[in-house]
Amino acid sequence: MQKDGNQISPRIILGVTGGIAAYKSPDLVRRLIERGAQVQVVMTQSAKTFLSPSTFQAVSGRRVRDDLWDEAAEASMGHIELARWADLVLIAPATAHTIGSLAAGLAGDLLTTLALATDAPILLAPAMNQAMWSKKAVQENRTLLESRGIRFLGPAEGEQACGDQGPGRMLEPIDIVNAVFEAPVQLPSEVLKGLRVIITAGPTREPIDPVRYITNRSSGKMGFALAAAAQQAGADVILISGPVSIKTPAGVNRFEVETAKEMYESVHQRVDGSDLFIACAAVSDYRPEIESSEKLKRSAKNLNLELVRSPDTLASVAELQNGPFTVGFAAETQNVTENARMKLIKKNLDMIAANRVGPECGFDQETNSLRVFWKNGDIELENAPKSVLAKRLINLIAKRYVASQPKQSPSQVI
Ligand SMILES: Cc1cc2nc3c(=O)[nH]c(=O)nc-3n(C[C@H](O)[C@H](O)[C@H](O)COP(=O)(O)O)c2cc1C
Repeated sequence: MQKDGNQISPRIILGVTGGIAAYKSPDLVRRLIERGAQVQVVMTQSAKTFLSPSTFQAVSGRRVRDDLWDEAAEASMGHIELARWADLVLIAPATAHTIGSLAAGLAGDLLTTLALATDAPILLAPAMNQAMWSKKAVQENRTLLESRGIRFLGPAEGEQACGDQGPGRMLEPIDIVNAVFEAPVQLPSEVLKGLRVIITAGPTREPIDPVRYITNRSSGKMGFALAAAAQQAGADVILISGPVSIKTPAGVNRFEVETAKEMYESVHQRVDGSDLFIACAAVSDYRPEIESSEKLKRSAKNLNLELVRSPDTLASVAELQNGPFTVGFAAETQNVTENARMKLIKKNLDMIAANRVGPECGFDQETNSLRVFWKNGDIELENAPKSVLAKRLINLIAKRYVASQPKQSPSQVI
């Protein structure tokens, strides 16, 4: 997404499918653009029987995309590139057919291919005859898509084009636009432009002897996804990572550490002049007091290890005079909310992202959900692939960061 001064302009793919409500979509484009969005219209073949692409080209100022096999269009921005360009995919109207294709994971045309290829949030504004909308097949598709994080806007109830009464009308463009700009999901791609962001990731290893160490189950996936999302949002990103086997995201400056002490030192070497500090690493709270220089032998029946507290990198950054906006993570097995709120206050953090960890959630999983707290509020970020969740979290952090700055008002951010 692009930022012009303080104005953020989200990049929206507007999918238009073959429903009678497509006549409302040019008005939707106009209203989205009025609110500062950049809109790329993608039409299905059926949509073109209702409206001409030139209508959308005129209101959007962009050539409409309608064909996966359009060589010229693919050469200027390939469909995968277009899928990555988007901060949000909005399909309005969404036909029963397209909803079914999305539910089945089909990619038979450009629009459904983009929907599969994108990491951006997807919003659907369904529009169809009330009997179609109430069919079990359509309702099951809806439930399935909602369970995967796709959001439905409407439909509204009322008189339909066919003369029926009931649910199935597409929401009015004004209501769709309001919902789009209220949704805490879109990623302003340049919302962190010019900011220096330090992110920690992965576990630490606290040596016991030359061959053994104490560590934890952190895979580093969330921290690396955050680094990628922050970089895509225009930030200059420093990633300080414990031992993990993940590729460094493009454009990110990575430094490797092993122990909690090294993590502390590496962060403090670089924190000066940073704007945001996101502490996603699972840093060991304790380390063996003595690191044996020789491998410990199997001799005595019991072996006692004396553990001492490791330095608290997060709290030490939050304590800095004129330090960065500081975001912590709390991985908890119980009382997630209470523990997270306590950590937020005790460590004097600006925000904290909490999640429950256990065999099926949190560490080393591909998906995660978070509850994020700050002084006067909190929000749930629903279960999603870590790459998607990271974008949502970066967007939220950007909003809170801007709100914390004396000269800018939160209303300047979407
Ligand atoms: C006049 C007319 C109006 C239609 N209106 C709708 C509609 O409002 N909603 C819908 O789901 N399908 C509607 N259809 C059926 C779709 O156009 C059809 O299922 C098509 O395959 C949808 O393709 P698409 O989802 O790729 O655009 C309509 C068909 C016609 C001929």
